[in-house]
Amino acid sequence: MKENQDNKMDKIVSLCKRRGFVFQGSEIYGGLSGVFDYGPNGVELLNNLKKAWWKASVYEKENYFGIDSGMFKHPRVWDASGHTSGFSDPLAECRECNTRIRVDKELERVGVTADEKMSEAEINQLFDSARDKIACPKCGQKNFTPAKAFNLLVKSNLGDFTSEGSDPVYLPGEACQGIYLNYKNIVDSMSPKLPFGVVQIGKAFRNEISPRNFLFRTREMEQADTQLFVKPNENKAAYEQLKQDRWNWYLSIGIKEENLKWKQHENLVFYASDAWDIMYNFPTLGFDELEGVHDRTNYDLTQHMEFSGVDLRYTEGETGEKYVPWILETSVGLGRMFLAVISDAYHEEEMNGETRVVLKLHKDLAPYRVAVSPLLKNKPELVTKAREVFVMLKKEFGNVAWDDNGNVGKRYRRQDEIGTPYCVVIDFDTLGQENPDTKDTVTVRHRDTGEQERVSLVDLVKFLT
Ligand code: GAP
Repeated sequence: MKENQDNKMDKIVSLCKRRGFVFQGSEIYGGLSGVFDYGPNGVELLNNLKKAWWKASVYEKENYFGIDSGMFKHPRVWDASGHTSGFSDPLAECRECNTRIRVDKELERVGVTADEKMSEAEINQLFDSARDKIACPKCGQKNFTPAKAFNLLVKSNLGDFTSEGSDPVYLPGEACQGIYLNYKNIVDSMSPKLPFGVVQIGKAFRNEISPRNFLFRTREMEQADTQLFVKPNENKAAYEQLKQDRWNWYLSIGIKEENLKWKQHENLVFYASDAWDIMYNFPTLGFDELEGVHDRTNYDLTQHMEFSGVDLRYTEGETGEKYVPWILETSVGLGRMFLAVISDAYHEEEMNGETRVVLKLHKDLAPYRVAVSPLLKNKPELVTKAREVFVMLKKEFGNVAWDDNGNVGKRYRRQDEIGTPYCVVIDFDTLGQENPDTKDTVTVRHRDTGEQERVSLVDLVKFLT
């Protein structure tokens, strides 16, 4: 059966809630816009994604180091990074119903490209020329205020016990700043030779004007970043390699290549000299940014050197030459990654005359590796044997589900919906009562094909691995 692309996003949102993947943040209070919570199945998929990303980004590389930096940073960090002055989106408000829109995104929708570096006046010139085409998403009127630059940094009141709120400590607008702040510590403690990489999975917060499309645009997010430090004129080949590595990684976790494409930025953000996005074909949205790969030049370290007064130049061991390394970055929001992975895995198809929903997730990403069931839950001898198998597999894999609700068909449907690659059923043949040859064998049912085969218990762990 062909999936209806128009409402696939709605189906995914509904599946995520129904099956414990993702919930609206603060739901019992009516929800908090742009914030989501991961449920029991969601956190497993999220952690598996992080593990797969970390393995590819640290363990399979040489000269790459992981860190985990504190979220709060000195107030000057965001001045040096350019975020207090330049990290803004153009906002306009509907005069009829006070709905706020992001003017650059609305312009893009009607085929007008606004440059990130444009002044407020320039954006407003474009906005005025396209006003008749832009309607309020809530009330449909076209009566907006002029666009104003709206800074996306989220303030905290850490250490500020006055009401003025001067010199605020911000929540991170991008996670990577923690890496730049620790660049010197890493050079001093690990003595790496260039090129070397530093990676981190860290939280970032943005006061997004219109958070929307589920996990795609949120106000709180987690970013998985690689920052590769290279010699000033050795950026080109390394940049191409990084791009290729990231593309290949998506294929390695099972994303279909036809759902990916590259887009080079025409309008660069303030820190980049070249920027490419890996785009994913998101349901409803179509192709949109999944991950950014940026050539940040020596911008970040130069700025931090100037603002902190600390020498951040790298010293060549042999020649003593000093220079500020360039930084090549890959950065992806884990929410977007999660949404891409679940969208790619989502299938509706006919099986045995019924329509089933199945998440064809990569085995290493699925919340559970395997589900174990007794054929009948009211037969103690089957339950006892099934518990034995469950405990054995749990010791081996950890993420093993116990499922004895309803009949076996219903259990298969339930496990299909959360992407469990295998279901193991302990039946009367396992007990060998009728036929001693089948003793200590179990039925293994495959998620993607529905095929079943008998596997001996002594081979089961190897089979599932
Ligand atoms: N350090 C570079 C940086 O933060 P970015 O393009 O602003 O660059 C990197 O963000 C990635 O973070 C994006 O490609 C996207 O995956 C994710 N991202 C950015 N804003 C987001 C938001 N509001 N909600 C969810 N993910 C977001």
